[in-house]
Amino acid sequence: MKYFRALTAVVLAGAMTLSLAACGGSTDTAESADTSAEAEATDEASDDTEAVVTTVEEGQFIWGTNASFPPYESIDNNEVVGIDADIAAELGARLGLEAVVENMEFDAIIPAVTSGKIDVGIAGMTVNEERLVNVNFSTPYVEAGQVIVVPEGSDITSVEDLNGKIIGVQRGTTGDDYVSDAENGIEAAEIQRFSSAVETGQALLSNKIEVIVIDNQPAKSIVNANEGLEILPEPLTSEQYAICVSKDNEALLDAINAALADMEADGTLQAILDEYLVED
Ligand code: ARG
Repeated sequence: MKYFRALTAVVLAGAMTLSLAACGGSTDTAESADTSAEAEATDEASDDTEAVVTTVEEGQFIWGTNASFPPYESIDNNEVVGIDADIAAELGARLGLEAVVENMEFDAIIPAVTSGKIDVGIAGMTVNEERLVNVNFSTPYVEAGQVIVVPEGSDITSVEDLNGKIIGVQRGTTGDDYVSDAENGIEAAEIQRFSSAVETGQALLSNKIEVIVIDNQPAKSIVNANEGLEILPEPLTSEQYAICVSKDNEALLDAINAALADMEADGTLQAILDEYLVED
């Protein structure tokens, strides 16, 4: 655990686990039938609810993001808001840690996680093989995909029409990978890489580029916020977003997965998604 300086937040399911543990240790024979049932319950509960979680800064849950990717993250009144901000706050609360955000370039997030500067990346980040070499991912929390955004009336009507075009993407994203990967057969005139989704949209609006390839929800948010853009109906990829965690911190990954499962079961996750996801 050389990357993690501070100890420790103990994650417990709550007083329940503690009181059951106390019963399990009891030697009161008059209640032995009850006690063994409770002891079993204790074992089950402690398997996935009790773990020592270490974070970069004691008591904090530092999440890295690139807050120019609505509706997952954007800046409002100097605060990072959106789906990922709400998920981070909820995870922090459930883990007994204070959620603290670090806004950075998207392609700096995984290096910040692996070098132990931050605990996790929560950034509409797609799970893929290449990233899994360097980090672990939580259970996915939403489905997404890349789409093509063009000015209304563009002669680009499908992926084949990207040949010979000036394409804009956010640097280091799966959209960047898609248009850069020779296997997808796109022969762009040029690929311009921007540091945020919003900047990529602005470049399209000012005709610096002819088309963008970007995640579906930020695409909708950009198109809805500006006149004269449209999204082509066929998505190019099917992706899942998850939280990336250092390979050196399995306990944190497990605690996050347990909290996400609870958030799914009690409807919290769906409520967060419903609040922000942009309809067609
Ligand atoms: N889903 C894409 C990827 O993982 C883009 C994510 C960009 N996120 C952001 N917060 N800017 O590569």
